[in-house]
Amino acid sequence: MAAPNIETIVSLSKRRGFVFPASDIYGGLGSSWDYGPLGVELANNIKQSWWRWMVYERDDIEGLDSSIIQNRLVWKYSGHETTFSDPLVDCRTCKGRFRLDKLQDVQCPNHPSVHPGEDKECNLTEAREFNLMFRTTVGAVSADDDPSALAYLRPETAQGIFTNFANVLNTSRRKLPFGIAQIGKAFRNEVTPGNFIFRTREFEQMELEYFVRPEDAAQVHQELIDSFEKWIESLGISGGNLKFYEQTKEELAHYSERTVDILYRFFPERVDEEKQWDELMGIANRTDYDLRVHSKKPEQDGKRINPDSTEDLSYFDPQTNERFYPYIIEPSIGVNRTMLAVLMDAYSERTNEKGEVRVILKLSPELAPIKVAVLPLAKNKPEIVEMARGIKKDLQPTMRAVYDDTGGIGKLYARQDEIGTPFCVTVDHESLGDNAVTVRFRDTWEQERVSVDQLKNFLREKLGL
Ligand code: GAP
Repeated sequence: MAAPNIETIVSLSKRRGFVFPASDIYGGLGSSWDYGPLGVELANNIKQSWWRWMVYERDDIEGLDSSIIQNRLVWKYSGHETTFSDPLVDCRTCKGRFRLDKLQDVQCPNHPSVHPGEDKECNLTEAREFNLMFRTTVGAVSADDDPSALAYLRPETAQGIFTNFANVLNTSRRKLPFGIAQIGKAFRNEVTPGNFIFRTREFEQMELEYFVRPEDAAQVHQELIDSFEKWIESLGISGGNLKFYEQTKEELAHYSERTVDILYRFFPERVDEEKQWDELMGIANRTDYDLRVHSKKPEQDGKRINPDSTEDLSYFDPQTNERFYPYIIEPSIGVNRTMLAVLMDAYSERTNEKGEVRVILKLSPELAPIKVAVLPLAKNKPEIVEMARGIKKDLQPTMRAVYDDTGGIGKLYARQDEIGTPFCVTVDHESLGDNAVTVRFRDTWEQERVSVDQLKNFLREKLGL
């Protein structure tokens, strides 16, 4: 089973400390969210899984962490200043503001049974382009609109990779094909953010830019599409809730020759099956567009397309003696969207022997914020408490462990099930005599007696550590 809708995850997240509305004590700020004690652990585990899989397990990827605020020229030559916009319409009646291409996804504020523009009272303006980049000014400027101080918060992490292509190539002594991976914040002044952490104005991306010979691009593109589907499934997301979508020519970004999105069933409650799906990630063939536009190299007709860049970003192949611009294959996925999909897919319910419905978050052990909770059966027995605290301390360097004695054992188990802790370890009266504890399994509620001497290895094996 998976969550029946996003609302179920919103309420679980707030109740248990995964995600809170940002600036809540001042009335919040539309579609801004803060990640609580469990949310930050889950997000970190997702990022670590991606980084390990990309940078450590492959031999052809380097890591990078570039600046959020870059020289404005980066966004001029990338094309974002002129093309990174959404078509926007206003309604003169309700004063609502909507994305023209997403009218079907929202309700008319005055008549929620229809979409904007469908009621006779709706009075939409002509569409106009709205640039999504957040603007800021750099330095102590005299006026807020001083054009020489204008800068943007990056709307994608990718451009920092392209501008560092030669730095990484030269310092790491790489040859094609190779990739550069980056995880970091991105910002977009979205016209219609919403659906919890699905679309927000501040979010985090995990992006790989993989540089290849032009003739290899199509094949590498397909290989990365397939391998990313497998990585998403390795996070515990069911293949039945994923599908591929080939973007149409009209939908392609200005730099892309082909983009395949991997969609997740974010809206299972929608009656129309087609509308249940939305983008989890995109995998684009960006061609040689990016290195070409950021390069100082003269074009063949002698005209420089970029008079501001100081670097030639073409690649010299010593084996063939050719110089050319590599093609770039770009798998790009949001941390926050991945987290939402992971939480939705892990959600399940089970009825206990008393007829009470319990939530079990069946997170993969790799992603679970807490791997093991150590619980004393009697918190008024100092020897039991001491033994439980000692076990927690012993486990902690190897796995994220917590000690909890703030309720009866049934309540403590239920609490850990709801946040996805794969194992609970209970210290009881017998433990003092036999030096053994009860290990309880989250997904089956089965229990097993394990000697304290064997406990760390037992859990390590089960957790795959
Ligand atoms: N560099 C390519 C790029 O940025 P994109 O399809 O615009 O492509 C990639 O974004 C991924 O980033 C999306 O598939 C999604 O997971 C995430 N993402 C994009 N905009 C987002 C937003 N407003 N809120 C949350 N995640 C977002």
